Amino acid sequence: MGWKGILGFEYGIVQGPLGPDIAGPELVAAVANAGGLGLLRTPDWESPDYVKELIRKTRKLTDKPFGVGVVLAFPHKENVKAILEEKVAVLQLYWGECSKELVIEAHNAGVKVVPQVGSLEEAKKAINVGVDAIIVQGREAGGHVIGQEGLISLLPRVVDLVGDHGIPVIAAGGIVDARGYVAALALGAKGICMGTRFLATHESYAHPTYKRKLIEYDKTEYTDVFGRARWPGAPHRVLQTPFFCDWKCLNAQENETNQPIIGRTIIHGVEREIRRFAGTVPNPTTTGDIESMVMYAGQSVGLIKEILPAGQVVKKLVEAAQFLIRQTFNPDSI
Ligand SMILES: Cc1cc2nc3c(=O)[nH]c(=O)nc-3n(C[C@H](O)[C@H](O)[C@H](O)COP(=O)(O)O)c2cc1C
Repeated sequence: MGWKGILGFEYGIVQGPLGPDIAGPELVAAVANAGGLGLLRTPDWESPDYVKELIRKTRKLTDKPFGVGVVLAFPHKENVKAILEEKVAVLQLYWGECSKELVIEAHNAGVKVVPQVGSLEEAKKAINVGVDAIIVQGREAGGHVIGQEGLISLLPRVVDLVGDHGIPVIAAGGIVDARGYVAALALGAKGICMGTRFLATHESYAHPTYKRKLIEYDKTEYTDVFGRARWPGAPHRVLQTPFFCDWKCLNAQENETNQPIIGRTIIHGVEREIRRFAGTVPNPTTTGDIESMVMYAGQSVGLIKEILPAGQVVKKLVEAAQFLIRQTFNPDSI
């Protein structure tokens, strides 16, 4: 089975680039040091020097390869240029057109291109422009959700579509333990991409209250209540916190722009106010009414029982998946 790595990484475990700044150098380096693929997340504005600084900070913490994620819905050309100049291992892309020119440019710089898609159509386009791997995101996923289909039906269809193109398919959405990992492999994936599981680690840059809520609550909902003005038409999956449950039927005309300020934060070095219904998750610099801020999480959050070091998440997953395959799925048990 394909659990022995993707794209030259030791294991087929990818840490999703958690926006806006939750996947920083500490988390990415911890995942890389454990043999997985860690992905930094660029700011949603042009800031090439800052992006280079993030990459260099990460390199101080690991000598293993890692990647950077870019959300194409926001200004990104200069940031991408910085990423290619720094020659990281992987450029991950989300929510926008992954062009052939960009793939060629990245390949010329020795950087692999890995878009995250949410439909068969998007996967087709990615194959046609020559990407190196595809992350398939199911609707179970935490954070922003680009497609409508559940992973168990979408993933094998993308695997079939890829056929013998030799492009590894990576499964994302609702995977937090070895059972999900092995299930994804059985559906034809060569690796998995996890967001929520890595959010709940010591090294993630989420606010301690947010991490605590990931253990405390076990239900999520697909919604569009948060960040409507800044990122329109971008549904997301969030924890069902008391604040969310009170406001989930928010009038469609409302958005964060005319709401009261409920806190302050520093994101990628820039100070910002947080208004009610903003799409910004709390990080350790955030002050104010933390419990009323958005808390993204995937559908399997209820399976996460403790905050762990990220390296241990990778190690435990690999060991438990190997055990599961050997012990449970021996041919005699069918
Ligand atoms: C807090 C959070 C932020 C995220 N930010 C991004 C992002 O900036 N870019 C991206 O490609 N995916 C992002 N994702 C989605 C992940 O890449 C991945 O698809 C998802 O986490 C998988 O589902 P899971 O959370 O159930 O593991 C985010 C997910 C979470 C939970």
